Amino acid sequence: MKNLAKLCVLGAFVLFSFVTFAGGLTSVERYRVRAQAGPTPPANMAANATNSSNANAAATTAATPKPAAGDKSIPKTFTLAQDSASEYGEVTFNHDSHAAGMYSPDGKAAVGCVECHHTDQPKSALKPPLVTSERDVALTMDSWKASTQKVNTCRSCHFQEGSVPDGKTMPAAGGKDLTNELAYHINCNSCHDAAAKLRPELKKKTGFATTNDCLICHKKN
Ligand code: HEC
Ligand code: HEC
Ligand code: HEC
Ligand code: HEC
Repeated sequence: MKNLAKLCVLGAFVLFSFVTFAGGLTSVERYRVRAQAGPTPPANMAANATNSSNANAAATTAATPKPAAGDKSIPKTFTLAQDSASEYGEVTFNHDSHAAGMYSPDGKAAVGCVECHHTDQPKSALKPPLVTSERDVALTMDSWKASTQKVNTCRSCHFQEGSVPDGKTMPAAGGKDLTNELAYHINCNSCHDAAAKLRPELKKKTGFATTNDCLICHKKN
């Protein structure tokens, strides 16, 4: 009985994501909205998904304690690079504004969660050079709330140079090692540079940086 319930929940999500991605969303250009396309399961379904770890979640988060239903939130801001090995120290990142605001380069759309959390989408939705998928349903605020699967931090895969844990490998693409430094820089800077090109006035915004504004992002150690 419990297994049947699990299967239904899983089936509904798989079907939904198939419909979503078969519906042409795979071809939306980089940085266009994918966040708003999430499934909003009925309350009873969401509760089921939260209380019974689905197969997908069990595979990657066996040791993660289950959050209570409806009791999940993401910190509004993160202080990144607290353990910087260089003189370029901490970086403040407002997750709330980036995940919920109109933060596409042209300022007209929200940024899909998977634009940054790129492994949190089905394999079928990945575009080169991306190939690694850890989630069968694209991450959105709704799918995140309905799932017990944890969102892995960038640093759980993109290690600092020279400190790859035993048994792990440094991600690579295009022949380059994607250290934390390179991965975050590509992610943050390619979008900021594109935004500054489209909206030069952004350069006047406090805290907004393009590639070479090292010390606007970083506090000096
Ligand atoms: C848009 C903001 C931003 C800009 C601009 C930026 N960085 Fe970074 N940088 C980051 C983030 C975020 C990280 C990774 C944080 C983490 O690993 O927690 C990082 C990581 C690094 C690291 C690795 C630190 C370590 O030991 O883990 C170095 C070195 C670095 N940046 C230097 C620079 C230099 C030099 C520039 C200018 C040419 C620059 N950054 C521009 C945001 C930025
Ligand atoms: C589960 C491990 C994992 C996590 C978590 C992860 N990455 Fe990656 N990342 C990879 C791997 C592996 C690649 C190489 C391509 C691939 O396998 O998909 C990659 C590739 C990239 C690239 C290069 C893609 C390109 O367009 O050139 C960037 C940038 C990047 N990651 C940034 C991030 C950021 C930012 C986060 C957190 C928000 C993150 N990654 C989380 C494993 C991960
Ligand atoms: C602009 C990039 C970006 C966007 C968009 C984004 N995130 Fe994040 N997210 C991050 C970064 C960077 C972190 C900090 C932790 C890390 O370094 O991986 C983070 C952290 C998180 C965490 C906490 C992980 C932990 O264990 O600390 C969750 C959960 C999360 N994001 C979910 C989401 C959801 C859901 C969305 C979409 C509604 C979203 N994110 C959109 C970049 C992003
Ligand atoms: C997909 C696009 C995109 C990505 C990825 C992105 N940003 Fe931004 N960011 C923006 C835009 C657009 C703004 C300016 C928003 C505005 O004022 O209209 C901005 C503004 C900021 C600001 C100014 C304060 C604020 O929150 O508005 C900081 C600091 C910042 N970003 C840090 C980062 C860091 C660090 C990363 C990487 C971990 C990152 N951003 C990734 C689009 C992005």
